[in-house]
Amino acid sequence: MKRQLMTLGIALGLVVSSLTVMAEEKPLDIAKKSGCLACHSIEKKVVGPAWRDVSKRYKDQDVRAQLIKKVKTGGKGNWTEVTKGVPMPPYSPRVTDANIEKLVDFVLAIEK
Ligand code: HEC
Repeated sequence: MKRQLMTLGIALGLVVSSLTVMAEEKPLDIAKKSGCLACHSIEKKVVGPAWRDVSKRYKDQDVRAQLIKKVKTGGKGNWTEVTKGVPMPPYSPRVTDANIEKLVDFVLAIEK
């Protein structure tokens, strides 16, 4: 009986944890999981520019597609004064297109 209860407990635990995985992931969790936070933080320059500064620079500009492309294929040149020319690495296909879009939307929304 005890063993059966334990098995039931484990099974329930599995159901609950898979439900948690299925729940919408938060952008910062995606960023963490994808490795972005090794070089970016919201408020401070790390290796790459602070995401708040990115959001400020492009406020009211239609750059969503451009930034999605940048995260997918990497590149440099837009933040040279901040990064001394360090490039942003390419993330496609390591990170899914859907997640890259979520990350860019998240960054652009910081200063909205
Ligand atoms: C190895 C360090 C590094 C990692 C990891 C990194 N970035 Fe960057 N990121 C940079 C650098 C450096 C720049 C500045 C590029 C430039 O000068 O154009 C940058 C720029 C950006 C920009 C602004 C692009 C532009 O053209 O203005 C966005 C948005 C961005 N990163 C998002 C991300 C996201 C999302 C991730 C994770 C999927 C990520 N970065 C991971 C270093 C990094």
